[in-house]
Amino acid sequence: MILLDGKALSNLVKDELKIEVEKLKSKGIRPPHLAAILVGEDRASQSYVRGKMKSCERIGFGSSLFKYDEALTEKELLKKIEELNKDEEIDGFIVQLPLPSHIKENKVIEAVSPEKDVDGFHPINIGRMAKNMDALLPATPNGILEIIKHYKIETSGKHCVVVGRSNIVGMPMSILMGRKNYPGDCTVTLVHSRTRNIKEICQTADILIAAIGKAYFVTEDMVKEEAIVIDVGINALDDPSSEKGYKLVGDVDFDKLASKCSYITPVPGGVGAMTIASLLQNTMTAAKKRRM
Ligand code: GUN
Repeated sequence: MILLDGKALSNLVKDELKIEVEKLKSKGIRPPHLAAILVGEDRASQSYVRGKMKSCERIGFGSSLFKYDEALTEKELLKKIEELNKDEEIDGFIVQLPLPSHIKENKVIEAVSPEKDVDGFHPINIGRMAKNMDALLPATPNGILEIIKHYKIETSGKHCVVVGRSNIVGMPMSILMGRKNYPGDCTVTLVHSRTRNIKEICQTADILIAAIGKAYFVTEDMVKEEAIVIDVGINALDDPSSEKGYKLVGDVDFDKLASKCSYITPVPGGVGAMTIASLLQNTMTAAKKRRM
């Protein structure tokens, strides 16, 4: 079994970006600038956004965080997005999800200029991705592609089962793995909460990507010998023995099934670690396209 070390790869990607920033600066070019909009007090969102801003600092990107109270109206948010779309100093920005229920997520996503949509959530970027055209790709799925590439894992002709159909991970992941590309070129099955025989389908997976957001959802009996298992889940479970009172676990029962797999990502230190690195890569790409 080979452990897919997303943490190490993310450090590698960030180091490369840092060198690129230095090169730009030596040519008198301003470093890329990422902005984030955070609405409300969701603890996980606050922590994710903090991580994104800190990573910008580490590699020399500019960063701005715009924090708003839960009561922010949709109209006010759309106005801020329009402002960032027009701001020449900002190369890319994200609106952290989930948003409060009075704000329509799709309306917000569509308002972001596709050129600055470093989350890759805009319908134009999703459409271009589906057609295998140049596009800003969603960060978590793109991070998974980077892991597969880095470890030179063969994907062509394999059966890839994606568990979960979220707009952020499952949906784009299923499209990417089916594209005529490397990584990709798979036969893809997307299973979700309404699928009748999830266990039997997962048992036929050469590549299993778990993104359903339920701790230990994928059990040992669902995975075939030598499968490649990618765990996207980050679930907090009560753990009185730990200092924080909780521990983070994946969607996969790692301890029981790891020895069966040919490759597997750990949690933490697997896919999650790569998500920010991909977002920074997208920001560099957006900056280059806009002004270099
Ligand atoms: N919420 C959970 N993951 C993400 C992400 O990748 N981008 C944004 N904007 N919100 C998220």
